Amino acid sequence: MRIMGGGMVIDYNQGLIAEKYEKTKDFPVRSRIEAYSFLKHVGDVEGRKVLDVACGCGDFTRVLRRAGASPMVGLDISEKMIGLAREEEEREPLGIEYIVADARSVVPQQDFDVAVAAYLLMYAQDRDELGRMCRGLACRVKSGGRFVTITTNPDLYSFERVPNYRKYGFEIELAESVFDGAPITLTAILDDSSLAIVNYYLPIAAYESAFRDAGFRDFTVHMPELSPAPTADDEGDYWDDYLNYPPAVVMECIRD
Ligand SMILES: C[S@@+](CC[C@H](N)C(=O)[O-])C[C@H]1O[C@@H](n2cnc3c(N)ncnc32)[C@H](O)[C@@H]1O
Repeated sequence: MRIMGGGMVIDYNQGLIAEKYEKTKDFPVRSRIEAYSFLKHVGDVEGRKVLDVACGCGDFTRVLRRAGASPMVGLDISEKMIGLAREEEEREPLGIEYIVADARSVVPQQDFDVAVAAYLLMYAQDRDELGRMCRGLACRVKSGGRFVTITTNPDLYSFERVPNYRKYGFEIELAESVFDGAPITLTAILDDSSLAIVNYYLPIAAYESAFRDAGFRDFTVHMPELSPAPTADDEGDYWDDYLNYPPAVVMECIRD
């Protein structure tokens, strides 16, 4: 993979990117909205054969395994991320298999009931790359199986305004005009540093056709929701900017 900056894709093997990325998991928005919405649409995985694509350090992989997914496999292109996931598996064995692989690789048809991906598709820089990702997913999911993902909202470029998400722990910067591959720069604000990650814009219609062409149907986009658990942050309109101008959405489709 290539290193971010100047239109290049972030490489989680480099420097402290993996460690910094993990720190963003402490932001309340990650559990209150993002994980809640994603897992809600993943649904019941008890006894299902599940693949977590772009699993990173395996946070969602472990959640799904604990929810009964069996077998549970995590896949990521980054040796470093998979190394961290395997360390966690050694510390607390759950019976998860972690493999280093490119989600864009085409393999002989596999039979996962459910494939999930948290934050993968927005790294596709053009329709060709998105098509390769979708074909890589299609060859891993069995007929009738589901793919569910949370990803950066392509509609960010059509919002009447992009609010300041700083109170949630990050900022988003867009290019002056929208075009296929236009950058969406997310900067996570950490205590002592920041982490900038460049995502790429493609219209929703491009996602829909990439999934259809790869062999998926019933493409659906779900808006994120706030988990019911009350915290002090529930006061007033704290979550409104996120919910009214969602920077992430959940996408779902079924394998033909
Ligand atoms: C933002 S992290 C998300 C990690 C994890 N899903 C989570 O939510 O904690 C993105 C991950 O995607 C992985 N990734 C990016 N492109 C990939 C590809 N083509 N195939 C597999 N993994 C990829 C990166 O290595 C990184 O671990």
